[in-house]
Amino acid sequence: MRIGLLALSGPLLACTDASTVAGVPLTTSPDDAVRRIGDVVEIDTTRVPAWTAAASLPVAVVFLPARLIVVRRDRDQFSALSAECPHAGCGVSIVERTRLLCPCHGSAFDFAGTRLEGPAPSGLQPLAATFSRATGRLLVQLV
Ligand code: FES
Repeated sequence: MRIGLLALSGPLLACTDASTVAGVPLTTSPDDAVRRIGDVVEIDTTRVPAWTAAASLPVAVVFLPARLIVVRRDRDQFSALSAECPHAGCGVSIVERTRLLCPCHGSAFDFAGTRLEGPAPSGLQPLAATFSRATGRLLVQLV
């Protein structure tokens, strides 16, 4: 399985790929920050450059093909969304300032997942996310 991440905040753009099998990170700096364990994605937030190098927050990171978007709103504050577009199921994979864009037909969403424009009939599905300040790890429940 391949998990990639893409983030853009103002002029900042980060794009990497990672490979994992269930529960076992197979790669590779900085991609071993992300691993999938069943329906849970674990992210070592201290190793995601888009967040650690960000001059200001919030910053959204898209993890593909886990179809997951994570927004870091503050040092210890994260939220997660499904990256599956409710229009026709494409991956919402573009972050433009504080908007999330679907490349297929142009739907746009804010960082809360609310639909802003385009043919999507609704917003992005929120996902449960739990952050541990002690470990710096974020757990996101995919379903
Ligand atoms: S699939 Fe996203 S706008 Fe159509």
